[in-house]
Amino acid sequence: MTPDPWKLLELARAAASEAARLAVERRPADLGVADTKSSPTDVVTEMDTAAEALIRELILEQRPDDAFLGEEGGADSGRGAEMGHGAVRWVIDPIDGTVNYLYDLPHWSVSVGVEVDGVTVAGVVAAPRLGEVYTAVRGAGAWCNDTRLRVRPATDLGSALVATGFGYRAERRERQGAIAGALLPRVRDIRRNGSAALDLCAVAAGRLDGYYERGTHHWDRCAGTLIAIEAGAVVEGFHGAAASEQMSIAAPHGTFSALHDALVELGADDDDY
Ligand code: IPD
Repeated sequence: MTPDPWKLLELARAAASEAARLAVERRPADLGVADTKSSPTDVVTEMDTAAEALIRELILEQRPDDAFLGEEGGADSGRGAEMGHGAVRWVIDPIDGTVNYLYDLPHWSVSVGVEVDGVTVAGVVAAPRLGEVYTAVRGAGAWCNDTRLRVRPATDLGSALVATGFGYRAERRERQGAIAGALLPRVRDIRRNGSAALDLCAVAAGRLDGYYERGTHHWDRCAGTLIAIEAGAVVEGFHGAAASEQMSIAAPHGTFSALHDALVELGADDDDY
């Protein structure tokens, strides 16, 4: 039986809210780095690990056979598909914007996407220090708290406010910086806010004209992508490919092509960085 996406959203929202509360209330004043991943600046704090464990525990209490993909806890394939259900997978970034969280900057989020048979059907991005919870259900719309979201009207590139992000490896950052530098005179301005999930939500909320980034992971993008699409954005990679680690571009229809084409002109679609 295919699970009801609204019920999945309700559980995702409850789990994300509890994890967000934990991350706010239990953040040690002297929070340090517990571990590093792809580079010395790609950090994990004890709270990333604790928040993801809590999300998994709360979901498993109600749905013990489901699969998981999490930034900190990795993949767990569950038993749902074997049992012939619509297979459900929970895609978790317990703290997206870990560096902001480490520095006690408020711009970070807890992101939980829910896939059924490989399709994202519901998503939550909770930003407790901003007082915002973004939600979406496939085909039904996207919200910030109780407000329905809609992207900005299309604009020309020269008037576009565009966000991006940078990876953690020095060589990739050098190229990303050069591309952002070359894009800068062609757009209104560039933002680097530090949470890919919230960048996608900002496109959904009409607070940005576009966002692009190379190197994000599925857990950074899963919930935010659905939220952006449900608010009217196009979210794709280069040349019609699905958004992926190679590239994720999000913008309203009508702004998307100008941003995509400018990035291609600047060589952002080369695979050598
Ligand atoms: C990071 C943030 C950041 C983006 C990086 C991501 P994390 O996620 O989303 O904005 O630029 O690419 O890795 O590591 O804080 O979960």
